Amino acid sequence: MVFERMANRGHERVLFIQNRAAGLRAIIAIHSTTLGPALGGVRRWHYASEEDALEDVLRLSEAMTYKAAAAHLPMGGGKSVILLDAALAEPREVAAKAMGRAVDTLRGDYIAAEDVGVNEQYIDWMGEETRFVMGGEKKSRGGDPSPYTARGVVNGMRAAMRFLNQEPTFKDKLIAIQGMGHVGWNVARIVIGEGAKVKAADISPERLDTAKQQLGVEVVNVDHILATPCDILCPCALGGVINGNTIADVQAPILCGAANNVLDDPFEDSSALMARGVLYCPDFVVNAGGLIQLAGLWLQYTQAQLDQKIADIESTTLRILDRGRVLASNHAAAVDYARRVIDGGIPNQPRQGAIHAG
Ligand code: NAI
Repeated sequence: MVFERMANRGHERVLFIQNRAAGLRAIIAIHSTTLGPALGGVRRWHYASEEDALEDVLRLSEAMTYKAAAAHLPMGGGKSVILLDAALAEPREVAAKAMGRAVDTLRGDYIAAEDVGVNEQYIDWMGEETRFVMGGEKKSRGGDPSPYTARGVVNGMRAAMRFLNQEPTFKDKLIAIQGMGHVGWNVARIVIGEGAKVKAADISPERLDTAKQQLGVEVVNVDHILATPCDILCPCALGGVINGNTIADVQAPILCGAANNVLDDPFEDSSALMARGVLYCPDFVVNAGGLIQLAGLWLQYTQAQLDQKIADIESTTLRILDRGRVLASNHAAAVDYARRVIDGGIPNQPRQGAIHAG
């Protein structure tokens, strides 16, 4: 059963960890190390079943492979999940250290980072036991990746405008952003700085109020943001918000945001968006800026090399949008692009300068 599922998705290795004394049950999935070590977050979550946890880690680790490959990073894809007994279980140092030791047994084939339920402190605890972690404050490096993610998303928007034969400029454009969190806020800051107007929604009234005062965004009800007539719709909150029920509501010619797994059924929804005349910029291509930042630190990229990689999101997105026209699905085109990078069909090289792995 597990082998069949690994074979279906192409996973290399799945490690089940149980440490009774530390109260840790976890799964680490390494999808691919073809291009380099598998970098991916650790998610602490209360799953309804072990089955759900396994499905999540297999799906997420595969997506990391494609994200890294489409960003032309010499990195593979992996992810891990820690199965919590209760939804609000407090993070515990003893469990984090046990997780760190488990990560260490993989000797660098998997590099752990933050994800839902894991903060800098947790990463630092893990970092007591392994050097293969990113994103802590004391024991490893990283910091907040969202400004880099936002820059990548904005570059994706520029590619979409070019694809539609528009000037790639934000002057007088209207951008609707769902979620004024870390990434949404930074996207708003950049596009407003370049002359756009922003309409924004968030379930947090405080966050919205601050965005209104500090950035000058116009507030929209959370129930109406996806249906807001605008030039670009930018989902930066939860996954799955674009689905069979909401696609007909979208009133924007371009859909480009940071939210991971924004399409509920990526292959089907991507085709439905195309049929409706909405240009979808694949999530894992345009939201790779944060991964580029973390991988760049790991690989000891210079700031110029990092900047170039984030700038390259624009040309990669454009290539994928072109191919999407042929495949009738931009999601399919993005997966196809990433697979071709992994298979060596597209050189996995930076356009400028040499990059040295550290
Ligand atoms: P965040 O947690 O800082 O922000 C999310 C915001 O969405 C919050 O302000 C929250 O109140 C709001 N929100 C939640 N449900 C909402 C709803 N139904 N309607 C409107 N607003 C709602 O998260 P962050 O870091 O900004 O990430 C946003 C998305 O981008 C997530 O899907 C994340 O997985 C994805 N992403 C983030 C990266 C990063 O560098 N932070 C990198 C790649 C993807």
